[in-house]
Amino acid sequence: MSRETFYIGMDLGTFKTSVMASNAKRSSLYTAVGWPRDHVARAMLGRDVIFGEDVVQQRMALDVVRPFNKGSLKYVPGNPEDATDIERSKHAAKLLVNHAVSLMNPPAGAAIYGVIGAPSRASIENKQVIMEAAQEAFDAVVIAAEPFTVAYGMDQLKDTVVIDIGAGTIDICPLYGAYPKDEDQVTISIGGDSVDECFLKLLQQQFPEAQVTLNMAREIKEKHGFVHDVNESAIVSLPVNGRPQKFDVTDSLKEACGSLVDPIIEGLQEVIAKFDPEFQSQLLQTVLLAGGGSQLKGLDQLVEQGLQPFCAGVNVQKVYDSCYAGAAGALKLAMNMPDDYWQKLENSGTLQQDAA
Ligand SMILES: Nc1ncnc2c1ncn2[C@@H]1O[C@H](COP(=O)(O)OP(=O)(O)OP(=O)(O)O)[C@@H](O)[C@H]1O
Ligand SMILES: [Mg+2]
Repeated sequence: MSRETFYIGMDLGTFKTSVMASNAKRSSLYTAVGWPRDHVARAMLGRDVIFGEDVVQQRMALDVVRPFNKGSLKYVPGNPEDATDIERSKHAAKLLVNHAVSLMNPPAGAAIYGVIGAPSRASIENKQVIMEAAQEAFDAVVIAAEPFTVAYGMDQLKDTVVIDIGAGTIDICPLYGAYPKDEDQVTISIGGDSVDECFLKLLQQQFPEAQVTLNMAREIKEKHGFVHDVNESAIVSLPVNGRPQKFDVTDSLKEACGSLVDPIIEGLQEVIAKFDPEFQSQLLQTVLLAGGGSQLKGLDQLVEQGLQPFCAGVNVQKVYDSCYAGAAGALKLAMNMPDDYWQKLENSGTLQQDAA
């Protein structure tokens, strides 16, 4: 009797991992793993490894590893001097993938087939790292470009450019009715993380008396982040010598968030310029902003303005659900692949395959 098949779509992000399964379950968790710092922490937490919201809530008691932080493992080659860190990150990535799959409650004994999104320009070596992380949890896995999974999920496979604004990278991918080639796509090594770092630096310069961490800067950005010129202001409460005080962080926040706009327009220009000139304006019929960074207020308007010189009627949209759009597309891709293709992958004893 053949085994039951269970499909999973996973967006294994630098910051967040979103996962969806063919039993309609879905979940999103931080791409971070925490280990209790000492015996006291272990006793208090009651577990050896911590995932999800607890990694942030309990971080004082944890050693936290973000395995794909700053693109390490994911799109830049590992630095040999950091061999221990790389091994630790690889281990954390594997535990995280195992945990994400277990959250989907796959039926015992089922064959688990999955599609995992990776940055467009992830190297063979980087994809291998993702495959290794998936080895235990899946029977067969296909890696697909992150922006492609978003477009696939939304049936926007033609005349569209997807801009996936993640934490570690911005991936720009043209869709023209076939699986995009690596050389068609552009990955920029900045994203939400670099906005947070820039914002924190500006805050520390402007308000040296305020106590603020990178995590607080990110939370403020997620709550108030905007890039357009309307009369919006961000007033937040930050501690000064332990006492909360109000600060107007509007200018710093806008400058930090706005730092993404020029690189996005330049990356788009690069993608368009590589494209057949006869089809360039057709390609720009729809520009789809995806990833957590797409939530920045006014970003769609600024990108639309920046693209006017290239295509007067360009239509810039945001995805309907920045958290799950990638995982939903990856799941749809997994479920639409023929079963014999999956079985061949499983039987070949190798997990490594591209969706191309
Ligand atoms: N409402 C919001 N406004 C602005 N930024 C946001 C918002 N929500 C999330 N973000 C930012 O989006 C980023 C995370 O996006 P996403 O989850 O798409 O990244 P990722 O897939 O983990 O990263 P990558 O694709 O680079 O591997 C973080 O920097 C987060 O702070
Ligand atoms: Mg992503």
